[in-house]
Amino acid sequence: MERFLKFILLPLILTASLPGHGFCYSIINSPENATVLAGSDARFNCTVSVGWLILIWLFNGNPVLTVINPQGAIETSERFTSRNYTSSNGFTSELIIHNTQLSDSGKIECSTQQPNESSFAFLSVQVNGSLFIKNSTLTVTENKTVEIVCEALEWAPAPDIAWMTNDSLIDKSRYVTQQSQGSNGLHNALSILTLTPMDTEILTCLADIEALPNPQNATVTVIFVNSTMENDHIEDSRSTWVIVLAVVLSVVGIVLLIIIIAVVVRCCCLKKKGSTYENEIRKVSAEKKKDGNLGNRQRHGSENQGYIPEELWNTEEDPRIYSLPPRYPKFTVRAEDLHTSSASKVQPQKPTDYPINPKKIRNMTLV
Ligand SMILES: *[C@@H]1O[C@H](CO)[C@@H](O)[C@H](O)[C@H]1NC(C)=O
Ligand SMILES: *[C@@H]1O[C@H](CO)[C@@H](O)[C@H](O)[C@H]1NC(C)=O
Ligand SMILES: *[C@@H]1O[C@H](CO)[C@@H](O)[C@H](O)[C@H]1NC(C)=O
Ligand SMILES: *[C@@H]1O[C@H](CO)[C@@H](O)[C@H](O)[C@H]1NC(C)=O
Ligand SMILES: *[C@@H]1O[C@H](CO)[C@@H](O)[C@H](O)[C@H]1NC(C)=O
Ligand SMILES: *[C@@H]1O[C@H](CO)[C@@H](O)[C@H](O)[C@H]1NC(C)=O
Ligand SMILES: *[C@@H]1O[C@H](CO)[C@@H](O)[C@H](O)[C@H]1NC(C)=O
Ligand SMILES: *[C@@H]1O[C@H](CO)[C@@H](O)[C@H](O)[C@H]1NC(C)=O
Repeated sequence: MERFLKFILLPLILTASLPGHGFCYSIINSPENATVLAGSDARFNCTVSVGWLILIWLFNGNPVLTVINPQGAIETSERFTSRNYTSSNGFTSELIIHNTQLSDSGKIECSTQQPNESSFAFLSVQVNGSLFIKNSTLTVTENKTVEIVCEALEWAPAPDIAWMTNDSLIDKSRYVTQQSQGSNGLHNALSILTLTPMDTEILTCLADIEALPNPQNATVTVIFVNSTMENDHIEDSRSTWVIVLAVVLSVVGIVLLIIIIAVVVRCCCLKKKGSTYENEIRKVSAEKKKDGNLGNRQRHGSENQGYIPEELWNTEEDPRIYSLPPRYPKFTVRAEDLHTSSASKVQPQKPTDYPINPKKIRNMTLV
């Protein structure tokens, strides 16, 4: 009976104890697809149930890292490392692929070295290229249609291009995007937006790939110039020109007027001066005439004997001298007498009144 029981129970015990010996454990959580930017790290988790013996990471079919229970991870490359997490559910191995390259895109496999016990995911490495709008600042007028070009260079994969104006998406029908592949496996994109601005707009070109947390963007400001405003501006400038011209002309006119007035006044002054000059000349000539007359008279007087008494009489000379000349028979003798007499008697009085007369009288005597 005992032997029979043992014979029956042994297989049962054996089958029951098999999982306990590590032959019956499973992958609880499989690694998930990952998309990363080139240069960054890629991480994958693989969780196995309690009682696991071995976990092998395969990258594109090649084993890159092995973890043994309870020893731990056996790392053979700097590019592939791992971290361990243990919980009540089981054991988690996290594979870290450092400095991913575009060529690293491929299949990541987690194996427990048991038949039908492997799970896999895919790594996608993307390249964040450059993005720019070819037109810098644009100035457009009313009813003018412009084409704005946005270019994305050296992306992987080719980015999705979208356009925005003042934070609202532009309909896809208004732009055309062409993609091309470069020799290095990277992609370029060229997007042309056709736009008829009605207002000043801030245009944004967006390029997106899955690995980017936010799309890369490039902006351009399209400055809308209202043609009527432009005309107004022209008119304004014209009117200012007119004002400036008017001011200049009036100033010039005033200056001219002042000059004319000054010239006229000066001319008048000159005329006046001329007239006074003439007057003076006339006066002078008149005086000269007077003098001449006087001289003539005197000359006449020299000839006319009756003149001298007159002049002497005019000077209110003594009646003795006045009465004297007629007495002398000869003029020369009488002149000498007169001279002496005038010198002795008449002189004290005469020079005060007529200092020239005696001389003239002398001249008269010489003639
Ligand atoms: C993971 O990536 C592969 C290849 O790109 C795809 O076929 C699969 O559907 C992805 N799996 C999930 C869960 O997204
Ligand atoms: C893997 O699991 C650990 C522990 O739960 C977690 O901290 C880590 O973020 C996970 N990694 C990935 C790539 O999901
Ligand atoms: C992508 O590239 C642009 C331009 O080089 C850069 O400004 C941006 O930070 C990059 N994005 C990431 C997530 O590295
Ligand atoms: C722009 O187009 C509208 C409608 O066609 C027209 O009324 C307007 O005069 C145009 N403006 C200019 C500056 O051409
Ligand atoms: C914008 O730049 C592109 C390329 O340089 C040019 O073909 C296009 O005419 C420009 N658009 C305007 C409105 O200047
Ligand atoms: C877009 O933004 C600019 C600058 O903020 C503003 O001048 C313009 O009026 C805006 N245009 C529209 C259509 O909202
Ligand atoms: C453009 O990118 C910058 C960072 O590079 C970000 O701050 C900004 O919000 C982005 N603009 C749009 C419209 O996405
Ligand atoms: C241009 O400006 C005038 C007056 O400044 C305004 O009446 C007109 O609506 C403007 N046109 C546009 C297209 O904004």
